[in-house]
Amino acid sequence: MSSIRDLTLPLVTVTEAAARGASAWIGRGQKETGDGAAVDAMRSAMQAVPMRGMVVIGEGEKDEAPMLYNGEEVGSGQGPEVDIAVDPVEGTSFLANGMPGSICVLAAAPKGAMFRPGPAFYMDKLVVPPAARGKIDPAAPMKDKLAALARALGKDVSELVVFLLKKPRHDQVIAEIQAAGAMVRLQTDGDVSGGIMATLGDKVDAMMGIGGTPEGVITACAARALGADMFGSLAPQKPDEAEAVRAAGLTPGKWLGLNDLVSSDDVLFVASGLTSGDILSGVHTGAGLVTTETLVIAGQDASLRRIFTRVRAG
Ligand code: FBP
Repeated sequence: MSSIRDLTLPLVTVTEAAARGASAWIGRGQKETGDGAAVDAMRSAMQAVPMRGMVVIGEGEKDEAPMLYNGEEVGSGQGPEVDIAVDPVEGTSFLANGMPGSICVLAAAPKGAMFRPGPAFYMDKLVVPPAARGKIDPAAPMKDKLAALARALGKDVSELVVFLLKKPRHDQVIAEIQAAGAMVRLQTDGDVSGGIMATLGDKVDAMMGIGGTPEGVITACAARALGADMFGSLAPQKPDEAEAVRAAGLTPGKWLGLNDLVSSDDVLFVASGLTSGDILSGVHTGAGLVTTETLVIAGQDASLRRIFTRVRAG
């Protein structure tokens, strides 16, 4: 009987296919078309993956973008039963504008292990590296959170860097971080990459703030795999979203722990670079060959691998 770990290489081919498929749309100002190309490539490549998969976290509903839809069955129909979370293009504006940092990403976990966010589009998140695991209270005042983080990492608060999305909704929290003496690193999009950097303690010491819920669950798989810590709290941004979240029996504002977000260590996080950024180099075409870089984070052995693949173009 095959296991989720056996799906590593097949799932790598899925995000690679999405990155190659969407790369034709880099810098062409058409984010939906580029996203659609990644969705189509992912859906088609997924058919060959030996699993009985179900997309439990799709993307697109929030932005009415193309998507692999929640409940969609994926895989060859044989093999382990798997929850799949996908974000065919994370950073669609980066793709459309030819800017750094777009990736094609998915996560896999045993059936039933991933948090089901229902109609919740937005989640407040806190990701910290392994050394701070179990040492941060997400509900504490910002000053106390940063002091606890600094202690856990053996740093001074003034040395801490916190990744946040550059959105008006974060103005206050940014001011609080800076008033406490820490630094921010802001990016207009792409909090999965921010969460990975925080998980690794590479370039940033934490990721905070409100972003997409699918991105949150995907990030949680990587954080869990590498022994980092993460909290998430549903943060609806509009009254109708809040109403739908409550009607689904979910509680906005309640902090969920990492085990609530993904309840198994048997997880895979797989991301291929589309445009070069902080965590991955993008698709490169030259001399009739297309090269992709893929990051594989696996909970089975708490490992991180980088896979470079070169195939003939076309
Ligand atoms: P897309 O690639 O789907 O546009 O998502 C990018 C992103 O910035 C995510 O990284 C983040 O979680 C989410 O959008 C935030 O949503 P919004 O831009 O609506 O605030």
